[in-house]
Amino acid sequence: MTDKKAVLNIDGFDTEIDLPVLSGTLGQDVIDVSSLTANNIFTFDPGFTSTASCESKITFIDGAKGVLLHRGYPIEELAEKASYLETCYLLLNGELPDAAQKAEFESIITSHTMVNRSIEQFLAGFRHDAHPMAIMCGVVGAMSSFYHDSIDINDPTHRMITAHRLIAKMPTLAAMCYKHYVGQPYMYPKNDMNYAENFLHMMFGTPCDMPKVSPVLANAMDLLFLLHADHEQNASTSTVRLAGSSGANPFSCIAAGIAALWGPSHGGANQAVLEMLNEIGDEKHIDKFIKRAKDKDDSFRLMGFGHRVYKNFDPRARVMKKACDDVLAELGLEDDPLLRIATRLEQIALEDDYFVSKKLYPNVDFYSGIIMKAIGIPTEMFTVIFATGRTVGWVAHWNEMISNPYKIGRPRQLYTGPSQRSVQAMDER
Ligand code: CMC
Repeated sequence: MTDKKAVLNIDGFDTEIDLPVLSGTLGQDVIDVSSLTANNIFTFDPGFTSTASCESKITFIDGAKGVLLHRGYPIEELAEKASYLETCYLLLNGELPDAAQKAEFESIITSHTMVNRSIEQFLAGFRHDAHPMAIMCGVVGAMSSFYHDSIDINDPTHRMITAHRLIAKMPTLAAMCYKHYVGQPYMYPKNDMNYAENFLHMMFGTPCDMPKVSPVLANAMDLLFLLHADHEQNASTSTVRLAGSSGANPFSCIAAGIAALWGPSHGGANQAVLEMLNEIGDEKHIDKFIKRAKDKDDSFRLMGFGHRVYKNFDPRARVMKKACDDVLAELGLEDDPLLRIATRLEQIALEDDYFVSKKLYPNVDFYSGIIMKAIGIPTEMFTVIFATGRTVGWVAHWNEMISNPYKIGRPRQLYTGPSQRSVQAMDER
């Protein structure tokens, strides 16, 4: 709370309404409008672009300056000096782990990597060509029926066990979705590997052949998870909070988050980037697509460009670009035709007045899509991998909400439908 107040003066109201102004540690002050309902007044904010839906200590973004902090630490520094699991520990516990805490956390996560055997039968019920995100929504929701020994949301120990289970089992489930999709046997996790190596092992190994995991690719994968770990109150995280605000169990809340992430304006953008590159098909078609992207009457957008919050640059994209260059060099793919189209698009968007004036920079999904394509991950898996990395953010926000006083989320509306009328009997309609 600050000494400042906002004063609301509405035509037709006798009195002005004083509204408190709240300050956070960083970022703009916010006007607390929560008392308006007592005056039977509601605010209108489609897309919640002007609304802080909650108080949070986890992640801070300054979109104008291209800043992303987790618990105060810049994403660039975490990417350089910490692993994904250290970042998970930070998001969940508020501080980075020391060496002993790190070892203990890794051991806890490793001990939870296997999933209940019955999940294999559950997966078998999906069509062989089901989209892995569709399977992920179903399987994660179903986890509450497998792990109901620890879903008392009012018990902090249960909440932490669930957080650990989710972080540990997501790569296993993600790889199982992929194996189902390609019709190969599921691979069990290997607990002597680190988080990212193990994921690549479960994705690309088979019982007949377990190729050695390249350290460059494992590092890129770890970075990819780390850069997606959290992003404050985006659509999927807000969905998790909203579902959790009803007291729903954490697995169903995360399943709701996965569903929200799937859309092409959110986590589905990395798949959409590759689909767009395939659609463009050849460098000689790029101009035509750039023209379409600028045409107001054409719904086509350059996927992987622009961001709702970052209106300068996406700090995750900068880190990802470097990893992207390393991966392409490691795999000798600099001359891949699709990747050449990507490089050209990036160049145009950084120079062309339309994109520059609208501050449409390549976002994290642009480079993550290219990295995953280079690693050999099929496009249908891209959003699943985003969901795997983001699970810690979802669960950290859910835990933060449940650990503090909270209300069930219940937005209001501006009703513009018919006014009250009487139902006519069938023969009078
Ligand atoms: N290509 C062409 N024009 C664009 C694009 C684009 N990718 N993005 C925005 N614009 C134009 C848009 O038409 C509008 O033009 P005008 O001012 O003339 O009406 C202007 O730029 C502002 O667009 P907006 O829709 O108001 O921007 P927004 O902040 O509401 O939307 C966005 C952000 C991410 C939905 C949008 O930029 C987009 O659709 N990008 C492509 C999809 C994408 O890459 N999404 C991943 C986002 S990052 C992952 C995540 O955090 O989930």
